[in-house]
Amino acid sequence: MENILVTGGAGFIGSNFIRYLLATEPDVHIVNLDLLTYAGSLDNLAGLPDPKRHTFIKGDISDQELVNELLHKYHISKVIHLAAESHVDRSVHGPAAFIQTNIVGTFTLLEAVKEYWLKEKPFSESAIRFHHVSTDEVYGTLAPEDPPFTETTPYAPNSPYSASKAASDHLVRAYHATYGLPISITNCSNNYGPYQFPEKLIPLMILNANNGRELPIYGDGNQIRDWLYVEDHCEAIWHIVKNGESGETYNVGGNNQPTNLTVVKTICEILDECNPVSPYIPHENLIRHVTDRPGHDRRYDVDISKIKKALGWQPKESLTTGLLRTVEWYISNPDWIQAIHKQGGYQEWMQQNYTNRGTVE
Ligand code: NAD
Ligand code: TYD
Repeated sequence: MENILVTGGAGFIGSNFIRYLLATEPDVHIVNLDLLTYAGSLDNLAGLPDPKRHTFIKGDISDQELVNELLHKYHISKVIHLAAESHVDRSVHGPAAFIQTNIVGTFTLLEAVKEYWLKEKPFSESAIRFHHVSTDEVYGTLAPEDPPFTETTPYAPNSPYSASKAASDHLVRAYHATYGLPISITNCSNNYGPYQFPEKLIPLMILNANNGRELPIYGDGNQIRDWLYVEDHCEAIWHIVKNGESGETYNVGGNNQPTNLTVVKTICEILDECNPVSPYIPHENLIRHVTDRPGHDRRYDVDISKIKKALGWQPKESLTTGLLRTVEWYISNPDWIQAIHKQGGYQEWMQQNYTNRGTVE
């Protein structure tokens, strides 16, 4: 058995990654270190395939003593680092947690693996890897005619979230250049799919529309994102950990660039068809334009030719099929949604971000 530390494995992408890995790799044991912030839940890990090969530890990635203990106790040879504060709007309201977890937390993990792997040398160099899961948002925003982000596009983050992720990317890169730590980094576009906390665009719009609540579009809604179905991201991460070059960065994306309005209207059309007796048909009538997000990036577009060429990876799911699967998942899992609604923090966030936001024409 190979022992792999996954950080943030009770969150959206982390829990999907653990599901993917347990289902596809029979010889791994996963140690999942997660603080269970508002965004993490053990409900995301219910019904894992082969749960004997998953050990959950509640704790903070900034706790160096704990991280050290886990590395030694479980003989960890690979780290897949996903733990983070991940929501741009929350970073606007309260950036401190982003600095602490995304920058100090990543630094703590890097120090711990450097000491264990490089000083004690418990494994051969080819067996170890620190994989850092990052975002395309570190590149900033694109004008309409700009070419897509490549791995050499200069960093220009615009939100406290993307700035903290950029800082963590730089630290990971520097630990490779300075100490020779075997690392890889993925800069991925917006993910969507099962188990995503309903503060992000797609699950928020599915749940609001299905319940006849307004659909708050920031500004004119013509901002553009690239969207990747979460399972495709999980597959890309594991491909890179197994076969990607140490020290390399790979962009990962879904090969689509719809406007936010297009995404929301597509969700509305799927709901119109799924539930023809809904009193809210056409769901599109629930759309409201609200005051824009400060520092809102206008357009992202990711060039994925490097990972395609080097590793033969490309997304399997199209935006249409992925959205259909996602809407079906949210409609079929009311207990999971109920548990989030009962969380005091969720209602508070909805109040803080949307009440008194103001509508625009
Ligand atoms: P998420 O917010 O759903 O989950 C984050 C998880 O990290 C939660 O389970 C939380 O409890 C845990 N966590 C937070 N602080 C912690 C700490 N100090 N110690 C231990 N655990 C802690 O996030 P996500 O959407 O699953 O994103 C995972 C990673 O992927 C992040 O690094 C994010 O920047 C990156 N990413 C996300 C997207 C996206 O669209 N969601 C796209 C590209 C990259
Ligand atoms: P989000 O899911 O928060 O991801 P990110 O900000 O990391 O791209 O938002 C995706 C897009 O949707 C972004 O342009 C902001 C917009 N958006 C809205 O218009 N309304 C909303 O209520 C939310 C949460 C996002």
